[in-house]
Amino acid sequence: MYSEYKSLLKTRLDEKRYYHSLCVADEAKRLALKCGVDEEKAYLAGLLHDVTKFASKDEHLQIFGDFGIILNDIEKNAEKLWHAISGAVFCEKILKIADSEIIDAIRHHTTAKANMSPLCKVLYLADFTSADRNYPDVDVMRGLVDESFEKALVYALQYTIKDLCDQKKAVHFDTLAAYNEAVTSLEGK
Ligand SMILES: [Fe+2]
Ligand SMILES: [Fe+2]
Repeated sequence: MYSEYKSLLKTRLDEKRYYHSLCVADEAKRLALKCGVDEEKAYLAGLLHDVTKFASKDEHLQIFGDFGIILNDIEKNAEKLWHAISGAVFCEKILKIADSEIIDAIRHHTTAKANMSPLCKVLYLADFTSADRNYPDVDVMRGLVDESFEKALVYALQYTIKDLCDQKKAVHFDTLAAYNEAVTSLEGK
């Protein structure tokens, strides 16, 4: 399924990142089943979420310029965040994917945000728990995601924020808003 998108991804990604995309698509579909999200939408969002991961700085600037994307100061200084912004625009404007929930999920798959849709949460978490991932806490994350999306979200956001602090890097305000919302909703339970 989605053979055209898969062929495109093979031209844009290396083998490891292509495999990651397939793994996130499968994991997003699995998580979607647990929470009533449309499985096909989740699969497609997972498949395409890193489509511009290997875009050069020039291509990023071209995409941002062509489609009127203005980065804030934190985004300007964090090139790691660029592929989520460019990926969403690429899917919407170039691949003509009309589903705004898919576009929104791709747009926020690195920072997260407050008020994430269920699909947005599914993609964000699937990127942490896909079969190819092997960071130190991956088993903890996989256990949490099977227990509660809310707990897994808090853990993933804490992990990200701590990591950025350790590296003395700025934390995007969407990430802080996502963390504050998630941790507050857990406190009430
Ligand atoms: Fe990504
Ligand atoms: Fe990813």
